[in-house]
Amino acid sequence: MAISGLKRWLWRRTAVRKDTAPPALADVASEDLYFVPPNVNLDYTPTFGFEGFLNKEHEEWANWPLTPDRIVDHRIFGWLRRADALKLYEMAAMCDGDILELGTHQGLSSHIMTAALRRFGDTGKRRICTIDLDEPCVNKACENLAGEIAEGLVDVRVGEAGEVCRRYIAQGKRFGFIFVDHSHYYGPMREVCQMLGQLVAPGGFVLFHDFTDPRSAFPESGKPEPDFGVLAACVDSLPDGEFEYYGAFGCAGLYGRRA
Ligand SMILES: C[S@@+](CC[C@H](N)C(=O)[O-])C[C@H]1O[C@@H](n2cnc3c(N)ncnc32)[C@H](O)[C@@H]1O
Repeated sequence: MAISGLKRWLWRRTAVRKDTAPPALADVASEDLYFVPPNVNLDYTPTFGFEGFLNKEHEEWANWPLTPDRIVDHRIFGWLRRADALKLYEMAAMCDGDILELGTHQGLSSHIMTAALRRFGDTGKRRICTIDLDEPCVNKACENLAGEIAEGLVDVRVGEAGEVCRRYIAQGKRFGFIFVDHSHYYGPMREVCQMLGQLVAPGGFVLFHDFTDPRSAFPESGKPEPDFGVLAACVDSLPDGEFEYYGAFGCAGLYGRRA
């Protein structure tokens, strides 16, 4: 059942910061790929002012079957944890404006966000643009998202993240929500982080996947995995004073652009 615009507007007025500062690199870095940082709360909690879940479709992700690697076991292959999926659904539902995704792969995260747009997106007024530099991935995603593409909810394109961001900036395009899940290396992440102030609309949000990944590197030493640096790039390169940290959910980190 559709949620009324008034309810959504009321929920949107309250955005809660779960944590005030991002974790330190030492809190999350580990040689163990399945490491769960003991002092960082990775549970899903809503950012906006509703209790529990937005609807049954949202709640389903809280109980979604998992693979032995603890990622959601879906017909569309991806690497999302339950809390990542819950946060993606919430942000796509609640953020105003269009959505940009950097890194489509086979379309799992787009599939989750399009479901939220279908229920909360003012019937066709908001869209997702998702890009990936790998053409076979884009072709597979187009197959997996054929229904959503036909509904006009999502555009799937071949593109390199940095180039796509520069093009949107030149066009003056702003997004209400951006999901950053392309390269996880420090250099390409830093390049994108530096542009986000010009791409995220005031009051909009950006979610970084693999933010708390145990491979998070110390850029100086390249440990534990050379160049793996989502968290480090965010801390070093998001424009000063423009973004506030909202918390970690699954392995994703959420920042909001000041209104
Ligand atoms: C982790 S996957 C994305 C998963 C997807 N968001 C999901 O949750 O279903 C990362 C994708 O980013 C793409 N990629 C890597 N570097 C990129 C870049 N510089 N620009 C665009 N896409 C890139 C890869 O081809 C890969 O398909």
